Parts: sequence; structure tokens; C-alpha cells
Amino acid sequence: MRSPVGTTLRRGRASDEGPALPEGSPPPVLVVEGLTVTLGGREVLKDVSFNLHAGELAGLIGSNGAGKTTLLRAVLGLQGTAAGTVTLSGRRDHGSLGYVPQKVSLDPDLPVRARDLVALGIDGQRLGVGLHSSSRRARAEELLSSVGALHLADARVGALSGGEQQRVLIAHALASKPRLLLLDEPLANLDLRSTQETVSLLAGLTRSHGVAVLVSTHDINPLLPFMHCVVYLAGGRAASGRTAEVVRSDVLSRLYGQHVDVLHAHGRVIVSVGDEHRESGCELAPDDCAEEGQPA
Ligand SMILES: Nc1ncnc2c1ncn2[C@@H]1O[C@H](COP(=O)(O)OP(=O)(O)O)[C@@H](O)[C@H]1O
Ligand SMILES: [Mg+2]
Repeated sequence: MRSPVGTTLRRGRASDEGPALPEGSPPPVLVVEGLTVTLGGREVLKDVSFNLHAGELAGLIGSNGAGKTTLLRAVLGLQGTAAGTVTLSGRRDHGSLGYVPQKVSLDPDLPVRARDLVALGIDGQRLGVGLHSSSRRARAEELLSSVGALHLADARVGALSGGEQQRVLIAHALASKPRLLLLDEPLANLDLRSTQETVSLLAGLTRSHGVAVLVSTHDINPLLPFMHCVVYLAGGRAASGRTAEVVRSDVLSRLYGQHVDVLHAHGRVIVSVGDEHRESGCELAPDDCAEEGQPA
């Protein structure tokens, strides 16, 4: 990762925060360079730059309205940009990106089983030249198995818990064998156990599938033990690099343009910006944190 605020990503070694990065220096899967997005006459993202390699898990961190969804949409090619480039390694086609959007509402009565939803992802990339049903069934089960959800194959997706739905949606997103998996607030509305299981699953996928994962969240803490690097958004700008090199008082003070304290307590990080006390972007006051999962 390259940071506009001067941090440098070092590879192949463990550090105080987060796991060691994969060894070697293959070309990045994703390079975002000078990305600027204007919405409603306002620069929502300003000169955002970072890159992401195969096998890396990166947190896209920012409070509500910081621009996380906008950045992911720009990477997907769904959002027009005022300046900058988004470059994916190799071909840019349907299969190169997997995406789990921020809000997926599945009606409990929807007569769609988990295996059906995953199979849609398998067929989607073949445009009519579908797999034989036995092959498709086997592939859907393989994908469900890879996210620990094979036992849910015949359950209606709308009837599953939030954590179970996330697993099925991740299996669906993996169906095209993407090199890059984007997830927008997948931890919102999950209980603590499901949150930990989902983050652990994503970390496992970086190892087993070699996929690069970019996951947005307003709370950095669940990702801390697993993520290799961070893209921290504030005021439309980004700081990126290894967690320990970005989530620091001097780096975040430069990013926010005002003094920021970074406190470590009981294995958690608390980011205190000016008079506000945020837990990595989510203000600690219960009412404010209740915004979790609300539309941005
Ligand atoms: N279509 C739009 N027109 C104008 N402003 C928008 C539009 N979409 C998003 N925004 C604004 O852009 C900012 C970033 O939004 P978003 O990327 O959804 O933030 P996040 O996902 O971090 O909560 C917010 O201030 C939001 O209100
Ligand atoms: Mg969002």
C-alpha cells in the first residue's frame, strides 16, 4: 500500500498489530491512484491512493458518510470519477471482482435456497453456456463448504440469521473466482460471535483462495487481529498502509487536520478526534452507534 500521508507498507514480517503480510512482491491486484469523486457538487473523495495485493485483507475504515461505499462503487466501475484511476491486474471482466453490497434485504418468504443463490453466481459468468446441473450443484456445494455453510444449502436464504446470510452471500461472490473481493459493511447488524466468525472466514479466504479482500467498516476493532493493512478515510482523504503505521496519532492528526488521540485499551483501539470520542469512527455514545446499518 502507498499512503498519501507518507506511511510505507513493509511486507513479509509480523508486527505488533495484525498478521504478517504474504511474502514476495507480486504486482498489486488493485491500484487506486489519485481517485477524486464529486457528488452533489461536493468532493466526497479527494486524491485517494492505495494498492492491494493478492492474499491481503484490508480494512476500509471511516465513519458514516466518510465515502466507503462511494470508493467501493468507484472500484466496481459503478461510480463516475472526477479524477484518478482504478487499475485491476489482468483483465477487467465479470469474474475479476466479487462484491457483497452494504444492504441486502432477503424476504423470509423468498423461495430461494442458499444453494440456488450461490448457483446464480456460477451461471452469471457463463452467459447462457451454463454448467450441467450436476456440475453446478457440486460447485455450489464446494463454495458453500468453503465458507462453512454447506449445512445451510437447502435452507431458505431469507430465513437464515445475519451471519449465515453473510456466509452465503460471500459464497455467491466467490462463485466467479474473483481476484478481488469487496464487502461493504458486512459486519453491520451482526452479533459479536457472528462478527468474529465472519472476519475469521475472510482472513481464511485470503489464505485458501489467495484473494485480496477489501472490507468496509466503521469499527476497526473486529478486523484488528486479522487485517494486513488499512485504508482510513476522513474528510474525503485517505491514509493507508499497515495498521500500526496508520492508526497513530501523528498520521490521523494529519489526515483529520486536527489533533487526534489513538488510545489502546484491552486490545481495542479508540480514536479520539478533537472533542469527539470515537471508537475507530463510531462515536461511543450509544445513540450514535445505533446508526450502525442505517443508510449512509
Ligand atoms: N448520489 C449522491 N448525491 C450526493 N451526495 C451523495 C450521494 N451519494 C452519497 N453522497 C454523499 O457522499 C458521502 C459519502 O457517502 P458514502 O460513500 O455512502 O459514505 P459511507 O459509505 O462511508 O457511509 C455522504 O456525505 C453522502 O451523503
Ligand atoms: Mg456505506
